[in-house]
Amino acid sequence: MLDHACHPFQILADISRAAETVDPIDELLERILAAAVDLFHAKGGTLRVLQLPSNELRLRASVGLSATYLEKGAVTVRQPLRRIYAEGPLVIHDVQTDPHMQYPEAAAAEGVAAIIEVPFRVLPDCYMSLRLHFGGPVAPTEEDLGFLTILGRQGAQAIRDTLVPDRYIKTFRNVSRAVHAGNDTAAILQGIVSQITDLLSAAGCIYWIIDTTGQRIEAKVSHGFAFRSLAAVDYAALVKIFDPAPGRTVIIEDAHADERIPDPQGLGKQHIRTVVGLCFDIDAHIVGILAVYFSGPRRLNPREMDFLQVLGEQGAISLLRARCYDARMLDTFRQTVEGLVMALEAKDAVTHGHSLNVGLYARRSALAIGLTPREADLLYHAGLLHDIGKIGMTDKILARLGRLTPREMGQIRLHPVIGARILEPLLFLDELVPMIRHHHEHYDGSGYPDGLRGEAIPIGARILTACDALETMIAGRPGIPRRPADEAVAELRRGAGTRFDPRVVQALCGMLQTGGIGPDSTHPDAPLPDTTGRFPLGF
Ligand SMILES: [Fe+2]
Repeated sequence: MLDHACHPFQILADISRAAETVDPIDELLERILAAAVDLFHAKGGTLRVLQLPSNELRLRASVGLSATYLEKGAVTVRQPLRRIYAEGPLVIHDVQTDPHMQYPEAAAAEGVAAIIEVPFRVLPDCYMSLRLHFGGPVAPTEEDLGFLTILGRQGAQAIRDTLVPDRYIKTFRNVSRAVHAGNDTAAILQGIVSQITDLLSAAGCIYWIIDTTGQRIEAKVSHGFAFRSLAAVDYAALVKIFDPAPGRTVIIEDAHADERIPDPQGLGKQHIRTVVGLCFDIDAHIVGILAVYFSGPRRLNPREMDFLQVLGEQGAISLLRARCYDARMLDTFRQTVEGLVMALEAKDAVTHGHSLNVGLYARRSALAIGLTPREADLLYHAGLLHDIGKIGMTDKILARLGRLTPREMGQIRLHPVIGARILEPLLFLDELVPMIRHHHEHYDGSGYPDGLRGEAIPIGARILTACDALETMIAGRPGIPRRPADEAVAELRRGAGTRFDPRVVQALCGMLQTGGIGPDSTHPDAPLPDTTGRFPLGF
């Protein structure tokens, strides 16, 4: 088959040189095809390209075949691309009987008896097919097919080189447009990591966002990795690998041998060989790390590095915008909560300080039972606002708390529902609404307004119920004496499983007994907590 007398490796070297200099690309593709036809003494050949979602292999170059044969009709892919790509070269020994043939009559009329086809994946959504047509029988060796593959790869690479810059520009334009339109940051970052994975044929890509002051990972957006496989990566591991500082680029050529990656298995990257990471400054203490992972050895060219740089920067800009917006939102949030609490306290002097203490207890209980700092902050605000529905109560009823008629009691029982209704229109307080609505539900289902039971009561509401009762006990009320901590503990324990969630009771009792909370542990004028450091996205 392969005619060694034609010096195939010399021809390969010539083609390789031509790939650097020959322009336009169609001339190069024709030269590659002509070389293959000559070296294999074929009758002719074609080079076709398929770009998804099309099903048609479009002709890019041909040698030695008649116009009639080439125009016989559309050449389509008739089996899954993945299979064609995995199986590699295909030899059709008899065009008349082989089921792969679409136009056996046209082949007979052209005098084609056999075909060798080599498929190439140019990009994830672009394929190339090199076909040699023979007038007689063929018997290619493995070496022949290997050589044809190497030759054809020059064509696939040339096609890739023309497509990729276009795609880089298109991707950059789309991402940049989304950033400047103020689109959702999580969606922008997700777009960035998936486009990078596809365009660089990487195994995966992750945009890490880390807080260098708090020394923690704020968030990650990944493509190509199962989320669970990244669970073991902590802040210390990331710092060791990427040594994050704005403008830094880290290239790890062999992840298995590099000591910066102590346990590739643990990182869920057992199939990873090359890692490229770029760091971006987002604000004073937040750094973004764009990390691309390849399964084999991979050296990125300057154009590819530029592509990573500009996309990573767009991600950083988007994050910065989101954080500024979030800081403004938090200011609005604080002002609204403070305004509502002041309105309630002006109405109900009896509970002055009560809401603040419930908020503080709720936040500590939340952390004690393992909720996140952000959830604990939400509980603090829910505590401040839990009785906001009393704004709707008449002064007469509020003044008579503890000495109410059944009808007045019925009205008081409406306050969780009224509170939820007051907050519902404020979209940024929507997470507090269920906690407020259900803060008088009992664990055994005997509470109000909906008689929810056990886990059906939101955890935030279960915390508020217990903290509300505890604060009333240890702070006292007009006509109700303060109770010492041990009595409060006993009372809470009595209610565990009936009125209160036993888990919350356990946390509160633990804190009471260690002096963590109590009548003197908080000051009514304690400032609102600083929550500006939390991550702006809803991860
Ligand atoms: Fe209440």
